[in-house]
Amino acid sequence: MTMAGRNVVVTGAGRGLGRSIAATLAGQGASVAVWDLNADGAEKTVAAIQEAGGEAVAVTVDVSDAAAVAAAAARTHEELGPVTVLVNNAGVTTYVPFTELGEDEWDRMVRINLKSQYLVSRSFVPDMLAAGWGRIVNISSSSAQTGAPAMAHYAASKGGVIGFTKALAIEFADKGITVNNVPPGFVDTPLLREGFDPDEVAPSMPMKRAGQPADIAHAVAYLVSEEAAYVTGQTLSVNGGRYLV
Ligand SMILES: NC(=O)c1ccc[n+]([C@@H]2O[C@H](COP(=O)([O-])OP(=O)(O)OC[C@H]3O[C@@H](n4cnc5c(N)ncnc54)[C@H](O)[C@@H]3O)[C@@H](O)[C@H]2O)c1
Repeated sequence: MTMAGRNVVVTGAGRGLGRSIAATLAGQGASVAVWDLNADGAEKTVAAIQEAGGEAVAVTVDVSDAAAVAAAAARTHEELGPVTVLVNNAGVTTYVPFTELGEDEWDRMVRINLKSQYLVSRSFVPDMLAAGWGRIVNISSSSAQTGAPAMAHYAASKGGVIGFTKALAIEFADKGITVNNVPPGFVDTPLLREGFDPDEVAPSMPMKRAGQPADIAHAVAYLVSEEAAYVTGQTLSVNGGRYLV
């Protein structure tokens, strides 16, 4: 699989899964725009990619803010040109019992995890339509598949991602654009460590280990490849057997 000549945007690539996805695609020859709210994190990802001989540019952006996304897309177009591969990975989580879940937190979660994917996708779908080729991978969550206590807002936002994925997949199926989602389950990142100790989670997993960011990155690399041309609208669960579709 090669990504040579492809311009890619990975959101939330300043650490965790996004960083690994960006590095993996850059390693396959892609030019990668590393989008993140955290400028420092984005610069570190870019530095690591460049040290490994890859091409990347850091773009600081809040993906839940329409004006910021439009500005970031313009900057990305200036730096790289048209973008035909998009990985909507940026996301946040909190753990709030339902009876304490306020409207502000509900709205914030849906805005960052779900609305952002609409905002960023609409920025690059025109490039994909013009090229007659495109790949979108949306990162959802195994929590949307299994349900999870104190995560109604998060699970709802990620369930929305799965529906969004299927709708876009059908709408663009005859335009050379595929749209798929990857729901990770317990992958060792800074986000996971805010809620869990990976070593404590491991015994409950069929594989007896938490996932590693590269486990997700390799699945994304397949879905954005030329070889995955006939795969669209799918949920590729990368979770060590935690949930079987
Ligand atoms: N780690 C897991 O086990 C796991 C499980 C299921 C789903 N996920 C999903 O995978 C994705 C990546 O998770 P992670 O574990 O790498 O998290 P992480 O917190 O380690 O990294 C997320 C990155 O996204 C960035 N980000 C957050 N809000 C943003 C915004 N509004 N605009 C731009 N960037 C923003 C952060 O700055 C951070 O660099 C998320 O969507 C998360 O919900 C992760």
